[in-house]
Amino acid sequence: MKTELKILLVSVLALTLTVSGCYYDNEEDLYLGSSTCDTTNVTYSTSVAPVFAGYCNSCHSGSSPSGNIKTDSYSSVVTNITRIVGAINQRSGFKPMPQNGGKLTSCDLTKIDIWIRKGMLNN
Ligand code: HEC
Repeated sequence: MKTELKILLVSVLALTLTVSGCYYDNEEDLYLGSSTCDTTNVTYSTSVAPVFAGYCNSCHSGSSPSGNIKTDSYSSVVTNITRIVGAINQRSGFKPMPQNGGKLTSCDLTKIDIWIRKGMLNN
C-alpha cells in the first residue's frame, strides 16, 4: 500500500473516532441536563423564592415595584399568582416576564407549578 493511502486511511479513522466521541459526549450532557431537575422536595424557600430572587426581584421589590408586584414578598406572590403564572409562561394577554430576559427554564417553571399545585405553602 502506498504511504499516502495509509496516511489517508488513518486520518479518516481518527476523524471518525473524534466525531463519534463528541457525539457521545453531547448525548451524555443532554441526558444529565434533563435528569438534574430535582422536583422531589419543592418548597417556597428552596425552590420558588430563589428563582424570583435571581430573575425578578431586581425590578419587583422595594417601595415602587414594577407592576405593583413584589416578587420578594410571599403574600404579594400569592395575591398576584394568576398574573405571575401568565407572565412567566408568556401566555397571551400577559406581559412576558422576565422583562428583557429569556424565558425561565422549564425546570424552574415546573417547580413553581408544583409549588402552586401543592397549595402555595409558605414553607
Ligand atoms: C427588568 C425589570 C423586570 C424584571 C427583571 C422582571 N419584571 Fe415583571 N415587570 C416589569 C415591568 C416594568 C412591568 C410592568 C409592565 C407594564 O405594566 O407595562 C412588569 C410587570 C409584571 C407583571 C404583570 C404582568 C401582567 O400582564 O399583568 C408580572 C406578573 C411580573 N412582572 C412578574 C415578573 C416575574 C415573575 C419576573 C421574574 C421571572 C419578572 N416580572 C421580572 C419589569 C420587570
